[in-house]
Amino acid sequence: MKKIVTVVGARPQFIKAAPVSRVIRDFYDEVLVHTGQHYDQNMSEVFFRQLNIPHPDINLNVGSASHGEQTAGIILKLEKVLQDEKPSLVVVYGDTNSTLAASVIAAKMLIPVAHIEAGLRNFDMSIQEEINRVVTDKLSTYLFAPTKTAVKNLTSEGIVSNVFHTGDVMYDALLYGLQCAQSCSDILIRLNLVSRGYCLATIHRAENTDNYDNLRNIIAALGQFDERVVFPIHPRTKKVIDSNNLDIPDNILLMPAVGYFEFILLESNARMIVTDSGGVQREAYCLKVPCITIFPTTSWVETVEDGWNKLAQASTASILDTYNSTYDLSRHNSHFGNGNAALEIVNIIKEYI
Ligand code: UD1
Ligand code: UDP
Repeated sequence: MKKIVTVVGARPQFIKAAPVSRVIRDFYDEVLVHTGQHYDQNMSEVFFRQLNIPHPDINLNVGSASHGEQTAGIILKLEKVLQDEKPSLVVVYGDTNSTLAASVIAAKMLIPVAHIEAGLRNFDMSIQEEINRVVTDKLSTYLFAPTKTAVKNLTSEGIVSNVFHTGDVMYDALLYGLQCAQSCSDILIRLNLVSRGYCLATIHRAENTDNYDNLRNIIAALGQFDERVVFPIHPRTKKVIDSNNLDIPDNILLMPAVGYFEFILLESNARMIVTDSGGVQREAYCLKVPCITIFPTTSWVETVEDGWNKLAQASTASILDTYNSTYDLSRHNSHFGNGNAALEIVNIIKEYI
């Protein structure tokens, strides 16, 4: 059996890898490498347990560090793993430092790279994730684009060979998760929430957290919503809130980040979602929940074009204006595929490897 090394490291990558690894293992010897970029129980282990992802074969335990130290740490440790394992392919997901590091070292060792979630762009190279995407796409041998827009972005950069429009594996994961979530979690009852009676918020992008004014503006805006705001916080955001002793308005229910089943139940029952997460933006769309994205740009333009997602600046006025605006929710399309992206991706890999 040929060998594939899959590299994951951050919360959304565990979720994306779940449906793909399930299929990969029917045809290949998969070595699952966890870089250790995310390591808290509720940022890592919970997803392996809930989504039945096999325990990582290798954990590089790189932990948190500056971009350079984290990326270099992964490169250094992964090089040894790839020397030992000699895979036919390295599979990477999304746009994190784990993605960048794995694609750089695999490409340097002349091992083909498959990039799942290729072609996404914000067209702003000051965003760390944009650097990671652009470099990863340039180095990848096989590019799996989740949307038609992503294919177009690659074409306009001259990347045309081995580009496949397969749909979004995050949508595959969502469909799978929804089958179990209802019976596996009672989070709505525990938090005393009524369906459509609350807003769900997540904020974690460096642009909204490391800039304290932005985070303060966002929390102030959420505090003026005329409904409860359930806010599971990413550890990056918690750190900034704690170190600044930021006051949390009474209508905001702040809690540690929750597991996948809990989160998708909270999403699917929310009246509205406020986020800066790429994954949450498109889950909101797929679940038909109106969304405010607090970021200047989005790579998931379809969600905005169809009217379900509106961009707001990290200012209290901009968020409240958007909150109070009317959404035209008459258009909804299957931009993210039909839930078979993982199968399509592995079928394509089988043709080449
Ligand atoms: C990373 C990705 C981002 C992705 C996000 C998913 C990069 C450059 N960014 O951002 O694209 O949207 O993951 O959630 O790769 N921390 C903990 N415990 C953990 C993990 C992180 O306490 O288990 C804290 C640490 O203080 C760390 C900070 O969160 O310094 C940021 O973590 P890091 O992985 O560097 O970036 P994310 O903001 O999570
Ligand atoms: N998510 C979760 N628990 C939470 C917040 C988010 O399980 O408390 C899931 C969410 O359903 C989505 C993914 O995490 O599938 C998004 O990850 P994140 O926002 O960390 O990263 P991004 O998508 O912005 O890269």
